[in-house]
Amino acid sequence: MLTGDMRPISEKRQRVERERREHRVSRGRWGRFHFENMPWLEDVFKVMLRTVGLKRRGERNALALSVESTEFAFDNLPAAFDGMRILFITDTHIDEFPTLGETIRRLAESVSYDVCILGGDYNFAYRQESGMAYLWMKQLADALVQRSPVYGVLGNHDKYAMGQMLADCGVTMLVNEHAYLENDGDRLCLVGLDDCHYYEAADMDLAEQGMQDGSFKVLICHSPEMYQDAADAGYSLYLAGHTHGGQVCLPGGIAVVTCATVPRRILRGKWYYGGLAGYTSRGSGASGVCVRFFCPPEITLITLRKSTAAAPL
Ligand SMILES: [Fe+2]
Repeated sequence: MLTGDMRPISEKRQRVERERREHRVSRGRWGRFHFENMPWLEDVFKVMLRTVGLKRRGERNALALSVESTEFAFDNLPAAFDGMRILFITDTHIDEFPTLGETIRRLAESVSYDVCILGGDYNFAYRQESGMAYLWMKQLADALVQRSPVYGVLGNHDKYAMGQMLADCGVTMLVNEHAYLENDGDRLCLVGLDDCHYYEAADMDLAEQGMQDGSFKVLICHSPEMYQDAADAGYSLYLAGHTHGGQVCLPGGIAVVTCATVPRRILRGKWYYGGLAGYTSRGSGASGVCVRFFCPPEITLITLRKSTAAAPL
């Protein structure tokens, strides 16, 4: 792919982008009676926080961003990628706080890594876009592409135009598409899907079309909700965000509400499903009500290791 190139917008995404205000999330046991379809709940929650005096503390928590480091070992990892470090940044919702983009940039510059992956949800609001999101994501992307190759996918808060802007900055946007990382004659395949949660536009078959080497595949999809498909399709690693780890949690990180149809163990951090390893980031920003409790924001430094041991079940 050339810089600035991106797969043309799919009919599904185009239709949902057009009818964005009317489109409803419908899944899981609650069907359309889903909290994501009831934005007035956010106003009720804001009033509750103000009443009990926790709003300021929640906002401070939401800005306490740090680097979370983790490691995965795979017996099928091509040898040349042993020790490769991925910086995974997702759910920036960058126009939420004016200082957030700069904080992410400074943190990213404080660590060494080989490749950066952007996991989607760059925009804060769910149903409308902000010019500040474009401006601040451009500034962040311009800085990140100076340091390493950067790959990205779109989230449920993003319109296709956000992807085009990032592609113009030099980010390789994988919207139902794949690309290879090459090192010393070895190859690792990165597969990026369009959003599966709100746009329902993820197309794994299309993304894999023309794939010549799928011996080690990493799936990047904004939401972890494709975990069963990824395991069935032989992926080794799945990187996701979207859940914000619950964002507002009880002590011990127990999410009060969840916005993904996945088992709770897949909502945050490291997980395994059959032969698939996954990581669901708590994300860098926050959405809805801009507070966090017992669920700090993160950017994630993931080191890949070659191992002969089988992944735990
Ligand atoms: Fe998000």
